[in-house]
Amino acid sequence: MSQQEQKKNQVSRRFFLSRFGWGSMGLFGLGLSGASFRFLIPNKNGPSKNAFKVDGPDSYLEKVTYINGRRCFIIRDDKGLRALSAVCTHLGCTVNWVPDNDRIECPCHGSIFDELNGKVLGGPAPRPLEWYRLKLQDDGKLLVDPDDIVGPEIYLS
Ligand code: FES
Repeated sequence: MSQQEQKKNQVSRRFFLSRFGWGSMGLFGLGLSGASFRFLIPNKNGPSKNAFKVDGPDSYLEKVTYINGRRCFIIRDDKGLRALSAVCTHLGCTVNWVPDNDRIECPCHGSIFDELNGKVLGGPAPRPLEWYRLKLQDDGKLLVDPDDIVGPEIYLS
């Protein structure tokens, strides 16, 4: 192989490697963009991976029932059932239903919440407790979705 042919091959190899490198980076960038974009779109096709099932509606005859291990209350009133977060909006302690005081109280810094609307009645909590979507499933159980925050006006559907 002549020196000129070798040089031509080197240029062509350099050209190929350059294109291959840019192409790879472009594909990587596209993949990354696609994944990032998909991450920004909420999954509206079903419940989130944090959703959990609890017993059926007949298990919640009390005004307020705490769901052990789920940091959530099932609230019953004249209109039906709702799911209320038991995570304090101040610094995230688990709040307690205190029937004697007819309200929800945080043991950490003393925030107080109304059990019927989650509103702050006192203490440092900056926002009301959150309401979770509550859905009746085909098997008669309830599905609570902590990633699907709804307004206090949304009852079991
Ligand atoms: Fe509930 Fe501070 S964490 S009042």
